[in-house]
Amino acid sequence: MPSRKPCARPQSIILADPRCCRSTPFPCRRSTPTKCSSQLTRRGLADGTRTCGPSGRAHFPLVLGSDGAGIVAAVGSRVRRLKPGDRVYAYAWDNPKGGFYAEYVAVTAETVAHTPQPLDLKHAGAIPVTGLTALQGIDDALHVKKGQAVVVYGASGGVGSLALQLAKLRGARVLATASGEDGLAFVRELGADMAADGRHGDIMAAVRSFAPDGVDAVLALAGGGTLERCIEAVRGGGRVAYPNGVEPRPKKRRGIEIISYDGTAGVREFEHLGRALETSKIKIPIAGEYGLADAEKAHKRLARGHVLGKIVLRIR
Ligand SMILES: NC(=O)c1ccc[n+]([C@@H]2O[C@H](COP(=O)([O-])OP(=O)(O)OC[C@H]3O[C@@H](n4cnc5c(N)ncnc54)[C@H](OP(=O)(O)O)[C@@H]3O)[C@@H](O)[C@H]2O)c1
Repeated sequence: MPSRKPCARPQSIILADPRCCRSTPFPCRRSTPTKCSSQLTRRGLADGTRTCGPSGRAHFPLVLGSDGAGIVAAVGSRVRRLKPGDRVYAYAWDNPKGGFYAEYVAVTAETVAHTPQPLDLKHAGAIPVTGLTALQGIDDALHVKKGQAVVVYGASGGVGSLALQLAKLRGARVLATASGEDGLAFVRELGADMAADGRHGDIMAAVRSFAPDGVDAVLALAGGGTLERCIEAVRGGGRVAYPNGVEPRPKKRRGIEIISYDGTAGVREFEHLGRALETSKIKIPIAGEYGLADAEKAHKRLARGHVLGKIVLRIR
């Protein structure tokens, strides 16, 4: 079935046990009627805690990675929307066929889309999880509208750096939190109307001066005491949203809607993301790029924290 001949011994990064990453040949799987196999060139990198599956349900050995971009190598017999040779990006969380730290991945066709016009594979591979999660937070959970005052808490990370730009695209005024001079400069560069230190400093004073009548919405990409103080400045009837994984979870409060959600992939979801990317000049900040064989180094960099944007793995 594949129109491109897969290499005989494609490489994957396998997590043989929770402590070690190693590169090894791994068998290529045939596409089933609804699946699409992609040959990857680049992919985004999720943090280590998200690689073992929800509630630690992982079975070892495990091929890591929940998103990426590449070229379609083969499609199942019922797949019409995609064809071999297409440039695509994809998001498949907990894929039973294995993750994206590999030269080939087989995914359900609905979780794959053509790369949006302005993106090369490096940037497309960095954005499926973060882009869908940011967009669904701003549009579907918070319903951000023109003129609203919005706080993106944790705006220098993978999701936040996109959410901040998407909120601006919807016409909101944005207060972005980050840390350090470099973090604050980074979020200003991405278009924040105001930048405040989310780890140190007087966040309450910053939020009150940003929106004296209260903020309309907060997208929380990190949790803790400073976030809670920020939420105190949300007006009655305002909204706070956070993707599952943010810890500690924001506390419930009377008069404020607190919404938890997951970024999801599908044909409609990718169309929505593609439109946002094609009609704007959204930047996809890439803080570092590593070869597949250096996946362990990439994880160590992530573990040190304070990554401005996203780290990507180069598969080829
Ligand atoms: N459920 C889903 O579908 C889904 C999808 C994607 C992400 N997520 C979750 O969303 C969260 C954000 O993901 P991400 O990929 O954007 O993470 P990330 O790249 O690590 O970014 C985290 C951001 O939060 C800031 N931050 C971290 N700890 C902080 C603290 N204690 N106080 C103030 N700021 C803090 C970081 O700034 P510094 O530079 O100061 O560290 C950074 O700006 C994670 O919890 C992740 O698990 C969930």
